[in-house]
Amino acid sequence: MPKLPRARVYRGTTRNLAQLAARLRTGELVAVPTETVYGLAANALDASACRRIFSAKGRPASDPLIVHLAAATELSQVAIPNASALRLAKKFWPGPLTIVLPKTASIPDVVSAGLPSVAVRVPAHPLFRRLLKLAGIPLAAPSANPFGYISPTTAAHVRDGLGRKISHILDGGASAIGLESTIIDLRDPRKPRLLRPGAITCSQLEKVLGVTVRPFSRRNEISDTKQSVAQIAPGLLIRHYSPRTPLHLHEKLQLPFVARAKEAWLFVRKPAGDIPIPTKNVFWLDARGDLRGAARRLFAVLRKLDAGGFKKIHAELAPAGDLADAINDRLRRAAAK
Ligand code: TXA
Ligand code: MG
Repeated sequence: MPKLPRARVYRGTTRNLAQLAARLRTGELVAVPTETVYGLAANALDASACRRIFSAKGRPASDPLIVHLAAATELSQVAIPNASALRLAKKFWPGPLTIVLPKTASIPDVVSAGLPSVAVRVPAHPLFRRLLKLAGIPLAAPSANPFGYISPTTAAHVRDGLGRKISHILDGGASAIGLESTIIDLRDPRKPRLLRPGAITCSQLEKVLGVTVRPFSRRNEISDTKQSVAQIAPGLLIRHYSPRTPLHLHEKLQLPFVARAKEAWLFVRKPAGDIPIPTKNVFWLDARGDLRGAARRLFAVLRKLDAGGFKKIHAELAPAGDLADAINDRLRRAAAK
């Protein structure tokens, strides 16, 4: 792919949104803010536009894209809904929930990586919603990071990673949630599977569906459905969200260990008591340990530590709480060898 000049960052003015919508309609890529993480969007109905997403990110063709809609009423254009999906859509859209359903013929194979299913969501970020409405087409968008690196939660993160591979970035401020959407597989509504934990939890989904939502697990699934991981949860085959600096996880970090130079220590909440000198390698996600704040800052902090010249990052897992599964999933993937 030819090296482009550095991407332009657009403010969300009416004029800029109209211009970016027109570019999307003609097959160009635009990085967009969402409430979860920034996405790299293209016309989901245009196979060659979507192919550009894969080459800009260096993403393997086996990893399908999420299709974003302006409204739940458009769902049947891209997917074949069932009653459970409609119930979840009504409750959680617009918002950080992605639903996997059988796809319609309008979705090109490149978007679904050749699978007969498609992942769909209606995002909540006001600028992205306006852009979707103006463009008048569904937009396929994975996270706007080079494949395998930490997802971006600001326009500056997108520019750092893809600034020379893409031309247009819409700036919508820092992502309010900071972790990618929850993904639920509802191809078989009697057997919903959680493919990726996110801000919307299993128990919230179960309350609406009235059935158990089991996290996808390779061991259980493959034997009883005779489908491969690649067919059910292609994203799980792939290492993700990784800083270049080795990351070591701990159930609980203790302050007495923090003094070692060249190693960073990342706490969930600000450690109590006086922090011994040196303090320049002690960090925390949220001063009071609020997991919403921790989730919102996690990727930005990992990026900062990755750029900080440390040899190792020690990070503490989040204690039980609504967002703990999602935060710890990202930490475990980031630490995976
Ligand atoms: O919050 C989000 O979901 C963000 C924003 C931009 O919307 N997007 C995002 O996309 O995180 P991405 O591509 O980084 O992650 C999408 C995940 C991948 O793991 C992919 O394998 C899975 O969704 N996925 C997509 N289509 C699927 C399908 N048909 N069946 C199962 N998994 C699918
Ligand atoms: Mg991603």
